[in-house]
Amino acid sequence: MCGIVGYIGNQKASPILINGLIRLEYRGYDSAGISTIEKNELSIMKDKGRVKNLYQLEGIDDLTGTIGIAHTRWATHGKPAKENSHPHLDNSKTFSVVHNGIIENYNELRKFLTEHGYTFYSQTDTEVIPNLVHYYYNKDENSDSLKFLRAVKNACTDLKGSYAIEILCKDYPDNMIVTRKDSPLVIGKGENENYISSDIPAILSFTRNFYLLDDLELAVLERTQVSFYNLDLKPISKDTKTIEWNATSAEKDGYEDFMLKEIYEQPTAIRETIGAKFNEASKCEFDELNFTKDSLSNISKIYIVACGTAMHAGLVGKNAIEKLCKITTEVDVASEFRYRNPLVDSHTLCIFISQSGETADTIAALKLCKEKGAKTLAISNVIGSSITREADYSIYTHAGPEIAVASTKAYTSQVMLIVILAIYFAEILEMDTDLLNTLKKDIMELPAKIEETLKLSENILDFSKKTYQEKDIFFLGRGIDETVAKEGSLKLKEISYIHSESYPAGELKHGPIALIENDITVVSIITDPNLVEKTVSNIQEVITRGAKTLIITNQNLDENMFDLTIRIPETNPFISPILSIIPLQLFSYYISKEKGLDVDKPRNLAKSVTVE
Ligand code: F6R
Repeated sequence: MCGIVGYIGNQKASPILINGLIRLEYRGYDSAGISTIEKNELSIMKDKGRVKNLYQLEGIDDLTGTIGIAHTRWATHGKPAKENSHPHLDNSKTFSVVHNGIIENYNELRKFLTEHGYTFYSQTDTEVIPNLVHYYYNKDENSDSLKFLRAVKNACTDLKGSYAIEILCKDYPDNMIVTRKDSPLVIGKGENENYISSDIPAILSFTRNFYLLDDLELAVLERTQVSFYNLDLKPISKDTKTIEWNATSAEKDGYEDFMLKEIYEQPTAIRETIGAKFNEASKCEFDELNFTKDSLSNISKIYIVACGTAMHAGLVGKNAIEKLCKITTEVDVASEFRYRNPLVDSHTLCIFISQSGETADTIAALKLCKEKGAKTLAISNVIGSSITREADYSIYTHAGPEIAVASTKAYTSQVMLIVILAIYFAEILEMDTDLLNTLKKDIMELPAKIEETLKLSENILDFSKKTYQEKDIFFLGRGIDETVAKEGSLKLKEISYIHSESYPAGELKHGPIALIENDITVVSIITDPNLVEKTVSNIQEVITRGAKTLIITNQNLDENMFDLTIRIPETNPFISPILSIIPLQLFSYYISKEKGLDVDKPRNLAKSVTVE
C-alpha cells in the first residue's frame, strides 16, 4: 500500500512527481505530498485526500526544483490527516522522507529518539526515519561524500518491518537515496535523469529501462548515474531490464474506468498468456521450467498459496492439477497458511499466485516454504516483482498493467496460466493424452469465446439497474462454479459495498437458506454438465422462498424459471471460469456505476497489499 515516486534530472520535478502519483493513486488515496529541493532548502507540500488536492495547493506551481520525492498514502499508523501525510521531515529540516511499508519497532525507536531530544509531530511510524537518519548524520564526524549514505545505512540497520524509502538531504542537493525491504520500488533510467516508483506502469511514459533493487540494497541516484550498495556499503553492479509494456497500456484509452477497460482487454490478455505455450500438435513448453518425470513423481503434494482473487484463481488451478495430474493439491490464503505450521517438505511443490508479486503475506508464505525445503514456483503479472525474485521458478501472466483495484484480467490470466501449467505437468507425467489434446484445442478457441461473452453486457446492465439498491446478494455454484461464485461475490462487495455471500449450492440448506426471503437476489453459475440438475434443484428452493434469480450458464435450461439467464458460450469445464466470471465482473461494475461510486478506487482498499 502507499505509492512512492521520485525524480532527479534537469526538468522541473513537481509535474513529473504529480503525474506519477496520479498513476499510483490506486495504491492508496488518504493523502498525497511532495518534497523538492529549492535553492538548497527542502520544501514540503502535502494534504489529506486525493492527489488532486495536492495540485490545487497554492504555490505548487512555483516549485522549480529538479530533484524531488512524492507519496500517496494508504493510512496504517495515524488517521488520514495533513500531519500524518508524507513526506516527513526530521526536526532540523535536513532530511525529508517518503515511506511505503510498516516500521514495526517504531515505538521503541521513537522512545530512543525522544530520549535524545527529538520531538514528533505525527502519529506515523514513518517519522522515526528522518530523525534516525539525522541522529546518525549528526554523530558522524566526517564530512565526505558518503556521509549521507552512511547515515541512511545506519538508520536502516535499526529498522524492523517493511519499507521502500526515498530520502532527500538538503546538504546533498544532487543526490537522492532509496532503499527497500519487503516493499516494492523500481528505478527507471533515463537520459541524464532517473526516476523512482512503486511500480513500473507509473513511469512507463518516461522510460522502459529499469533497475530492480533487492531487499536491503541502497541506491544513490544522481542525474547521470545510479550507484548501488549492499548494507555493508560495498558497491554492487546492476544491469537494467527493458520492459515490453508500452505507456498506453497504462492509460484509460477512451474507457470511462480502468476496470471496464481491463474487462474488455481479457481476450488479448488470454491470447498473450497462452502465447506460444503449445499448439495442438506439440507438447506444452515453459522455457522457464525444467521439470522432469522424475522430479514431478517425487512431488507428493502441491500447495497453492495466494490472497483474495489470486487465491480464487488457485482454486481453479487445484481442480485442473488434481484431475489432470492426479497430485493432491491444497489451496490456502497466505495469511492463514503462514501461521499454521503447514506440512511442507522437500517433496512439496508450493505455487504462489500474485498479480503484483508484492503481497506481503504471499511473500512471507513463500519464504517459509523455502526454509522448509519445498520447491517454490511463482505466478505473477509483474516481471522482477518480489515473489519472482524469491521463488525457485517463475512464470508470468501477460495481462499487461492492471490499474483498477478490483482484479479482472489478472484473474482470468492467472486461471489460464495455472491450467496450462497443469497441462505441462500432466504431459510430463504422461497422463491421458486425449483429455489433454481436447483441452488444448478448447483453450485455443477461448479468446474468441471471451469476445462473444463480452457482447452480453446489455442484459446485465438492465439487471444491475434493478438490483443496485439491494442490501444482500447471494452467489451459488457447485464444483468449479462454486469457485466462480466466490470470485463474483468478492468482486461485488469490494466495488459496490453490497453485502454478499457465496455458498456451495448444496450447502445452502444447512443454514444460510434462513436468510432467503422475498425479493432477495440470488446469482447462480451453472456450467458443469454433471451438476446441472442438482444446482437447479437448489435454485428452485430459493425461488420457492421468493428469491429473484440471475443465472450464468452454458447449459440448455428452461429460462422461464429465472428472472434473467445469461447464456455464455460452451467450453471445457477446466476453463469455464474464464467465461462465467465475465458477466459477474460486468454485474459488479454496472452496480457500482449505478450507485455513483468510484469503481477503480473502492474505499479502504489498495491494489497492492504490502503490509500484513
Ligand atoms: C480483488 C483483488 C485482491 C487481490 C489480492 C492479491 O479484486 O484484487 O483480492 O487479488 O489483494 O493481490 P496480488 O494478486 O497482487 O497478490
